[in-house]
Amino acid sequence: MTTELFLRYVHFISIFTIVATLASELLLLKKTLTRSELTRLAKIDAVYGVAALVLLTAGLTLWLGGVGKPAVVYTNNWIFHLKLTLFITIGLLSIYPTVFFLKNRKGNPQEEVKIPSAIFWMLRLELALLFIIPLLAGLMARGVGYFG
Ligand code: HEM
Repeated sequence: MTTELFLRYVHFISIFTIVATLASELLLLKKTLTRSELTRLAKIDAVYGVAALVLLTAGLTLWLGGVGKPAVVYTNNWIFHLKLTLFITIGLLSIYPTVFFLKNRKGNPQEEVKIPSAIFWMLRLELALLFIIPLLAGLMARGVGYFG
């Protein structure tokens, strides 16, 4: 019970961190950014990456770690698989912005870099998908989508 509670807590804290970092990235983005601003974005993005890994670890342990409900409750639930698919999609969408921040932070800190519009819409899409997942989580936790 205590382990499950701890994992749920970690799961939630990671979600808060992911939302906070993604929202910060979107707020800090401009059509052009200096390399030093890109360095700051890359740091925020690193926190986002760590939070996503922690979230995944806590989620996988809640699912397959023998704490809480039996694994089959989630394995045989299509809403759970939809939730996982959205999470993976968010992860894939975050690759391009991450690589862009990391590559372009190097060089003269004052130099301006043009930001591709794809970075804006990818971050927006990530946040939009993120807001759907808690609804799916609430449904699956109540057994909706279970196919036995
Ligand atoms: C951005 C990604 C995610 C979000 C926003 C999210 C959100 C949530 C929320 C809100 C709950 C609580 C549901 C409730 O008690 O009503 C939950 C529970 C859970 N999540 Fe996630 N989750 C995410 C990713 C994952 C991943 C990647 C996994 C597995 C690999 C996972 C596995 C679980 C499990 C097993 C539970 C327990 C459900 C239950 O109470 O029966 N989650 N999640």
